[in-house]
Amino acid sequence: MINVVTVIGARPQFIKSAVVSRAMSKRPEIREVIVHTGQHYDENMSDVFFEELEIPVPDYHLAIGSGLHGYQTGRMLEAIEKVLLEIKPEWVLVYGDTNSTLAGALAAAKLHIPVAHVEAGLRSFNRLMPEELNRVVADNLSQVLFAPTETAVQNLKKEGIRDDQVYLVGDVMYDAALFYGAKADKESGVLKRLELNPRGYVLATVHRAENTDDEARLTAICRGLMMTARELPVVLPLHPRTRNILARAGVLRELEERIRIIEPVGYLDMVMLEKNSRVIATDSGGVQKEAFFYRVPCVTLRDETEWVELVVHGWNRIVPPRSAEQVNKGVLTAAEGSSEVPLLYGDGNAADKILNVLGN
Ligand code: UD1
Ligand code: UDP
Repeated sequence: MINVVTVIGARPQFIKSAVVSRAMSKRPEIREVIVHTGQHYDENMSDVFFEELEIPVPDYHLAIGSGLHGYQTGRMLEAIEKVLLEIKPEWVLVYGDTNSTLAGALAAAKLHIPVAHVEAGLRSFNRLMPEELNRVVADNLSQVLFAPTETAVQNLKKEGIRDDQVYLVGDVMYDAALFYGAKADKESGVLKRLELNPRGYVLATVHRAENTDDEARLTAICRGLMMTARELPVVLPLHPRTRNILARAGVLRELEERIRIIEPVGYLDMVMLEKNSRVIATDSGGVQKEAFFYRVPCVTLRDETEWVELVVHGWNRIVPPRSAEQVNKGVLTAAEGSSEVPLLYGDGNAADKILNVLGN
């Protein structure tokens, strides 16, 4: 029996791990032990995904919660170490680039337990982003690196990571989009609930620290989206980080008068909102790709992206949020990419490819 401890804790990790957990449950030779760090804990940032995506209830819930980076990561490290000493797994599986990823990889590496990293090799080359630090460290601590794209493979090569440690498996988020996308069509009533017309609105998400913690950038995004809302309704499922900051700055009410601000939604509703939007404006990594999966034009409100192939193929345009006019113009002129796009994120079987490696 191969014991795999999966460490997850933030919204995108629940979505990524859902398809791998589903595939693992069909492999009798693998036993998965799920550890939820508690990095995200609101019902609509955590539980909703376990229920909708039928992710097994975590075997361990560490309930770490929010805090400064060192505090949060340190508490996770201590708690994950205890679990790993008890389970003594063959693998620790981590996803993406959050503090939960870093803590899981570091706790395992210090105990000489092999680490497998899903979504390895992504780089923004911007070391001011906490995610970039987490990725670089997690990749360097991993024995096995599952890269979603050829660009990611090349990034790892340039950093001197051995070829035989790197597997190009495609993106588990594409697996998720295929599997749960069909479910969303059947089960989500979000368009009706919000009285939205297909292709009749802009969908926006904002949560990245470089935007929320920089007053000038956050103001440019908010004012820019308010300008856009004069032309097209803007729907903004608001991340709690951003909500807290906007509320503290006293601008939430004004924003709410112009923009459809809603609570974060479950994955099925999110997919439905994405599929039917005219344009997506986002600083999320996952949402950029989902825009492409559903062939919706996307504007990325950042200075760079890790998912560079989407920019090359025209499905994504980088619009650094330097002024409200720039944001508004970027959103209103977002263009569709070429229809001749190759398979950029694999064939929808990334989860199985991952398990073929871990189960060996
Ligand atoms: C984290 C990840 C980021 C990822 C994002 C996905 C790190 C460093 N960042 O950012 O890479 O893109 O998750 O959404 O790991 N909060 C709540 N309720 C919750 C969760 C958070 O109110 O359930 C609020 C708290 O005020 C908290 C803040 O959001 O301090 C930030 O949460 P945190 O998990 O530290 O970072 P994210 O911005 O969510
Ligand atoms: N998402 C969701 N509900 C929301 C906003 C996002 O289900 O209200 C999903 C989205 O479809 C994508 C993932 O969460 O699959 C992206 O997570 P997030 O933007 O928080 O993090 P990132 O991808 O930037 O790390």
